[in-house]
Amino acid sequence: MQAIYYEQFGGVEVLKTGQLDIPEVKEGEVLVKIKSAAINPVDASVRLGLLKTFLPYQFPVIPGWDVAGVVEERGFSARRFKAGDEVYAYARRPVVHFGTFAEYIVLPESYLALKPINLSFEEASGIPLVGLTAYQCLYVAGNLQEGQTVLILGASGGVGTMGIQLAKAKGARVIGVASEKNNAYMKTLGADGTLDYKGENISETVKKMVPGGVDLIFDCASGETLQQSLKALKPSGKLVSILNHGENLDKNINFQYVFVEPDATQLTHMSQLADEGKLKVHVSRQYRLDNAVEAFEQIETHHTTGKIVIIP
Ligand SMILES: NC(=O)c1ccc[n+]([C@@H]2O[C@H](COP(=O)([O-])OP(=O)(O)OC[C@H]3O[C@@H](n4cnc5c(N)ncnc54)[C@H](OP(=O)(O)O)[C@@H]3O)[C@@H](O)[C@H]2O)c1
Repeated sequence: MQAIYYEQFGGVEVLKTGQLDIPEVKEGEVLVKIKSAAINPVDASVRLGLLKTFLPYQFPVIPGWDVAGVVEERGFSARRFKAGDEVYAYARRPVVHFGTFAEYIVLPESYLALKPINLSFEEASGIPLVGLTAYQCLYVAGNLQEGQTVLILGASGGVGTMGIQLAKAKGARVIGVASEKNNAYMKTLGADGTLDYKGENISETVKKMVPGGVDLIFDCASGETLQQSLKALKPSGKLVSILNHGENLDKNINFQYVFVEPDATQLTHMSQLADEGKLKVHVSRQYRLDNAVEAFEQIETHHTTGKIVIIP
């Protein structure tokens, strides 16, 4: 199969395009023909070797953890899906080795959920990693409830756009923070209020919108933006971050760091939300597999709007 791969950690120059063997389909696994794979900032972090002490790896590494595709074959005892089923998955396995920037991937069937019927493969591939991240931060760690207010930092990128929509699906009020050019975009996704992280004192502006402070801060940006936002959290509120592990935070803040985990039940719920029109994916750019370097360069700007995908 054609694949993007690398045999050492480093910059985009380590990326190669070539033919690799399709992995063997073992017990409980399925072979998925990949129709679309989304790229995420973490794919660049893994390629740079930044997660090598945390995630075991085996070269050659095929990058990519997001996939939408079609079940082509199933191994012994894999019976949840049949050939031809349209599925999607967050494909991070315990060892970083086979990813989704290829024509095929083999995954345990427990990773897969049926893809939303109303979304294209390109759109569906943009949900798993960022959707699960937002789901696990807002619904699980943040226990967001109807009528509460959440402040989302970095709300126009992959995770943030899922965050706005999942919070609205819960009946919460959302204030989104991104650069000025994305404020109108965040409103189209349902944000009730928006802020530009470059031009405003975030806490003061949020306090004008919600005098008592917000119930939840969902931090997808960290750094100065997070520090500027902390005063907007009500004393009983919670901070959930996907970047900050607790550095430079007041010990009195109710805080949790989340690292996203595969979860097919949550993916199935997001399929339903997408089919009800409550979860949309804006694919801002598409790349062919042999242009994966450009996709990496774009995601490494950390200013991607919506999602970008790679088509084999
Ligand atoms: N722990 C986990 O499990 C987990 C899971 C997923 C992602 N992450 C991490 O979370 C981060 C966001 O992921 P993503 O996929 O959403 O990235 P992305 O698609 O690149 O989006 C980045 C977002 O951050 C905004 N942004 C950039 N600089 C900012 C600043 N100084 N203040 C506020 N917002 C800023 C961008 O808005 P503008 O374009 O308007 O500047 C954009 O909305 C990445 O670093 C990623 O590695 C962690």
